[in-house]
Amino acid sequence: MTSGRSMSKILSVVGARPQFIKAAPVSRALRRRFTEVLVHTGQHYDAGMSDVFFRELGIPAPDHHLGVGSGSHGAQTGAMLAGIETAIMTEKPDWVLVYGDTNSTLAGALAAAKLHVPIAHVEAGLRSGNWSMPEEINRVLTDAASDLLLAPTHDAVEHLAREHVHGQVRRVGDVMLDALKLFEPAMARSAALETLGLEPGHYAVVTVHRAENTDDPARLAAILAGLARLDTPVVFPMHPRTRQRIADHGLFDLRSAGWIDPLGYLDMLALVRCASMVLTDSGGLQKEAAFLGVPCVTLRDQTEWPDTLELGWNTLVGADADRLVEAARSARSRPSGSIAELHERFGGGLASERICEALLTP
Ligand code: UD1
Repeated sequence: MTSGRSMSKILSVVGARPQFIKAAPVSRALRRRFTEVLVHTGQHYDAGMSDVFFRELGIPAPDHHLGVGSGSHGAQTGAMLAGIETAIMTEKPDWVLVYGDTNSTLAGALAAAKLHVPIAHVEAGLRSGNWSMPEEINRVLTDAASDLLLAPTHDAVEHLAREHVHGQVRRVGDVMLDALKLFEPAMARSAALETLGLEPGHYAVVTVHRAENTDDPARLAAILAGLARLDTPVVFPMHPRTRQRIADHGLFDLRSAGWIDPLGYLDMLALVRCASMVLTDSGGLQKEAAFLGVPCVTLRDQTEWPDTLELGWNTLVGADADRLVEAARSARSRPSGSIAELHERFGGGLASERICEALLTP
């Protein structure tokens, strides 16, 4: 491994909750070798969706906060594009680094491409094959524009080879495993279980936030109906969009115990670690559950993480109440796959270091 320092300047773009988590380990590694400038688009702005992550994960304060907030895809992405363009022109970075698949990711990539600044994409190559997801559009377009494609898994590398992307592809592993390993001791100190009165091994953690589930009243109703039939206590930290859609669609009659406000990373993973299972439509949580040896029931029709299916930690049930209940029942008795192999497939917690190496020798 090279130990060289570089004076290169990296401008990193974050904006949404999962990007703060990914930036925590990567930013630490980058700042040992590069000058990093952090741009926060403001896509997520509630204290519980943004500030708590910066505070508890020790992420440096953003150098540029664009305060873009919510809006339609065009309005939100357009405002970010203009703001990031100004930041790039001011900072003159050697690289623009973007994470994942949100509108902040695409805006960062597009702004950099137009200014001819090389783009590095962390979590390149993920595909669901579902072009109706805004995330899939963001992924494909960002990968097409990127110069350095930092893929988490073997599968992601194969997707990029098939698409003949112009940039360099490196398989570096998954930075969310880095984050998990980095913050495991802090997680162990969380008092979330006691505060919520939960007994280890005797509750399920639920999250639902994807547009495909929240914006379709039939899908959202089916998921809530399935959850209400579970014979285990549920804790459901709720994304503000989901709360809003439940109100819009008049689904409050499907309310069950366990609905709480969004949690920070440390409390969330402390809950996942001791749960009997996770039910989610999040991409990140599917992996985090598996990394921690907890079975996951995924409330979607596809996953970007086939390794979690292959190794027996994950089951896809779509938005179907009966399949949800059945999968939750068998998740508890399912023989577990190898956690060691799963960690190995996701880079063993060394992705941030490999990203630095790739930026030093692209
Ligand atoms: C975004 C990403 C999604 C990612 C998720 C992580 C896109 C297209 N989607 O979805 O891939 O998994 O972040 O959480 O980029 N809201 C608040 N407070 C906030 C943020 C949002 O109340 O701090 C509400 C607003 O009503 C807003 C809605 O949530 O309109 C949706 O927010 P938005 O940023 O558009 O997308 P997410 O659903 O969070």
